[in-house]
Amino acid sequence: MDFQTELTAYQEKIEDYLERCFTGEPPYGELYTAMRYSLLAGGKRIRPVLTMAFCCAAGGDGEQALPFAAAIEMVHTYSLIHDDLPCMDNDDLRRGRPTNHKVFGECMAVLAGDALQAAAFEQVLSAPLPQERRLTAALILAREAGQDGMCAGQVLDMQGEQRALNPEEIVRMNALKTGCLLEAACLMGVTAAGGSSEQMQAAREYAAAVGLAFQIRDDILDVTATSAEMGKTVGKDAAQGKSTLVSLWGLEKAEQTIREQTRLAKLALEETGLKTTFLEALADYLAGRSN
Ligand code: IPE
Ligand code: IPE
Ligand code: MG
Ligand code: MG
Ligand code: MG
Repeated sequence: MDFQTELTAYQEKIEDYLERCFTGEPPYGELYTAMRYSLLAGGKRIRPVLTMAFCCAAGGDGEQALPFAAAIEMVHTYSLIHDDLPCMDNDDLRRGRPTNHKVFGECMAVLAGDALQAAAFEQVLSAPLPQERRLTAALILAREAGQDGMCAGQVLDMQGEQRALNPEEIVRMNALKTGCLLEAACLMGVTAAGGSSEQMQAAREYAAAVGLAFQIRDDILDVTATSAEMGKTVGKDAAQGKSTLVSLWGLEKAEQTIREQTRLAKLALEETGLKTTFLEALADYLAGRSN
């Protein structure tokens, strides 16, 4: 199977699974509707694809990782809903639609995010997998999303609007706000398959490199792409005085860093049994993406 066919196959399984979440007549006003509005708005599904692909690479069946894959996409979607709030990045457009708070109001957007995060842990803990794998995955997700993970990165991002961060600080911010959820995705995939500690370490290294490249590409596209291509408002980082490696280094050095990190990501998979053509091609795709 070529890369694009395999990617689409994963994405379709994920869409199917997510489509079946929070259905039925909304019992609590618009809460389910608000959750589904952002969850089913057609994101790229990179994180759940990573979960399924790492599960396969570690010897499992991609489908057994679906509850973990859905969980990471729920946490990611919650992070986007909150990231867009007026108190954070104050964005009007996300995944090609008005942002959650623009449609449902700030209160419902906060609660939809909160509920998606809780639902993610429900997914992990009720997955039809051995208890030990469920507990390990829940611990990974909690750590990567929380006070020393994604939330910490968002705090550094907010601080970066007040003062210019240096390159080390920006790399740290990127590793936390973006790298951590990508790392959770990869580690939960290996966990779903019951992979080895060497494979967990390789997944961590792959995610760290891909994560830095991913956020630099996001920051480049914020400068070079159009809102129509991205499905979100571009030019925001400069307008809000955000510190990014692109603003600090310029496009050329940023591109060079993406190439180097992508090379390192692939290298991390060597000799671990995790090296698959799909995971290698995925690193290239993420490096070169245009939305
Ligand atoms: C956007 O993530 C937020 C960042 C961490 C840069 P994605 O680019 O994966 O967004 P979706 O899920 O495709 O909407
Ligand atoms: C998003 O970073 C990181 C998280 C949501 C955790 P950005 O603020 O750059 O993401 P976009 O550009 O709004 O998607
Ligand atoms: Mg942000
Ligand atoms: Mg933002
Ligand atoms: Mg951005």
